[in-house]
Amino acid sequence: MAKIRLDKYLCQCLGISRKEAKEKIKNGQAVINGTKVRKPEYKVDPEQNEIQCQEEMLTYEELHYLMLHKPQGVVSATKDPVEKTVLDLIREPYGKKLFPVGRLDKDTEGLMLLTDDGKLAHELMSPKKHVEKTYYAEVAGKMGEREIRAFADGLEIGGGETAKPGILEVLDASEEGSRVQITITEGKFHQIKRMVKAVGSEVLYLKRLTIGPLRLDDTLPSGSYRKLTEEEIRRLKEKKC
Ligand code: URA
Repeated sequence: MAKIRLDKYLCQCLGISRKEAKEKIKNGQAVINGTKVRKPEYKVDPEQNEIQCQEEMLTYEELHYLMLHKPQGVVSATKDPVEKTVLDLIREPYGKKLFPVGRLDKDTEGLMLLTDDGKLAHELMSPKKHVEKTYYAEVAGKMGEREIRAFADGLEIGGGETAKPGILEVLDASEEGSRVQITITEGKFHQIKRMVKAVGSEVLYLKRLTIGPLRLDDTLPSGSYRKLTEEEIRRLKEKKC
């Protein structure tokens, strides 16, 4: 593997900015093979050198995985001439090299996986893999047994399209509205909204909670993100749902 600058290495491993990495190095927090190095431009070999920062041993990742709590009002494209995109929420060092796995509507919030691992993204989105996605929704009117059965049977959702069977769980329901959880294995355009419409209701609020084994961290405020843990990455790759 090619050598890289120490400050760049810290950025990649710790998910911090170049400025923060330089500060840590200048404060003597970076240790290479047991020796403090205070030069940000010092070249390290990620495979050969043992690199610690603040006594934590670092491991270099060539691929990156972020969990974003997408807020409403942001589009899930990589660029847009007018709208704010999910990538506009991501700071250095990830820059523009990541892309979102699947789409969420502008008015939908919740779990978004951002990565530069094209293989994993392809597998998670492939219709053949049937990766489950779970959403929390607030909908108009009372949902009950009739709607649960309709979801379980699969629904005509317009435009000549049929949604495969999904799981509708009713958390609470009254004539004013219902709170539900919906699990689907596809990612058709506006799929949840179209399924809910097909049973005569309307989505008023939508939030994605899971993608396969990955669950939105409920300590992550809307608009913020964190690196996936090793365990989360491992489970996603195994796709143990
Ligand atoms: N289904 C929808 O209708 N919207 C989303 O954002 C995601 C799934």
